[in-house]
Amino acid sequence: MSTDKRRMMITGGAGFIGSHVVRLFVNKYPGYNIVNVDALTYAGNLENLRDVEASPNYTFERADITDAAAISRLFEKYHFDSVIHLAAESHVDRSILDPLAFVKTNVMGTCILLNICRQQWSGDPAHKLFYHVSTDEVYGSLGSTGYFTEETAYDPRSPYSASKASSDHFVMAYYHTYGLPVVLSNCSNNYGSHHFPEKLIPLMINNIKNNRPLPVYGKGENVRDWLYVDDHARAIDTIFHKGRMGEKYNIGGFNEWKNIDIVNLLCRIMDRKLERIPGTSARLITYVKDRPGHDLRYAIDAGKLNKELGWKPSLQFEEGLEKTVDWYLENEAWIKQVTSGEYQHYYDKQYQK
Ligand code: NAD
Ligand code: TYD
Repeated sequence: MSTDKRRMMITGGAGFIGSHVVRLFVNKYPGYNIVNVDALTYAGNLENLRDVEASPNYTFERADITDAAAISRLFEKYHFDSVIHLAAESHVDRSILDPLAFVKTNVMGTCILLNICRQQWSGDPAHKLFYHVSTDEVYGSLGSTGYFTEETAYDPRSPYSASKASSDHFVMAYYHTYGLPVVLSNCSNNYGSHHFPEKLIPLMINNIKNNRPLPVYGKGENVRDWLYVDDHARAIDTIFHKGRMGEKYNIGGFNEWKNIDIVNLLCRIMDRKLERIPGTSARLITYVKDRPGHDLRYAIDAGKLNKELGWKPSLQFEEGLEKTVDWYLENEAWIKQVTSGEYQHYYDKQYQK
């Protein structure tokens, strides 16, 4: 995509990754008109965007992507020429508790957006783009060796990954059937600031700080490939502007860690920052019942993105984790706000208090 003026819809911009993407685009592209469309579910928080909300090239619209009439009205109002689609139900454990919510937003919501883009852009697909942000979890689970490439067959195992896989298939179906201009990326696990504390890293930071048990599923031997969220946002920027139409790009950190090793590293960092006696926080580690269908290992081969478009991760994991821990320690009010209300109810249900 060229870098002249754009009229962009970013869905899910009030969430974790979406807020980093919105911030990057608002600051980097003053000539773009950027509209953040978000339903503000439990995971969406406008506090995440305080620093850019007054920017003249930024607008927020509260809307649900499953509400076709509302989304059509926004298209009539703003005449979008591009969409970066991040809005989703995003947490595997919640998908196990309530799979249909994931079908509704991730499958139906994506199809509704695709359909509206098809109608709005029919006959004039030039300089239009539907960018679908997806996950490496669509590829299923690896053994102890090997990597996911763009050619790896989809084999989703959780309701979350099945719903994302389904949405990916619909995106490609709209490309092949209707010629909708699309691009798609599948990224590994992200970490960084503004990450909702239901996910491993922010949950552990919050529990260590509050001297609460650190619930490690199973034996803690599952492996994830971690990427700093700003590096994901930079990859999305690169693919949005330079990616080839109808292509998929894998995004990853070249950074595999066992869960238990991350939890131990976080305990060491937090002991130091909170001036606790070394070893204090690690005593909170509690092995709990494993997640059903728990994928053993994810690891991304991001070679295509690197070779074709020149992207690579910028931060070492230890450095990124230090920055992340500092952000959580400095932003107590944010944590308090997002963990009040619904969070406690979910936490008690998930960890069976
Ligand atoms: P998140 O849960 O933090 O944020 C999701 C956002 O979408 C929230 O602001 C929420 O209010 C909004 N939303 C949810 N349902 C909506 C609906 N029906 N209509 C409008 N808005 C709605 O998620 P995240 O971790 O930032 O993930 C963003 C995207 O990136 C998702 O598509 C996810 O599948 C993908 N992804 C996430 C990761 C990760 O590690 N978190 C990795 C790869 C890909
Ligand atoms: P999570 O952050 O939920 O991401 P995903 O399941 O999408 O990879 O979990 C990361 C890993 O941490 C995963 O293997 C599950 C594990 N985990 C725990 O051991 N305890 C927890 O309380 C949570 C939330 C996750």
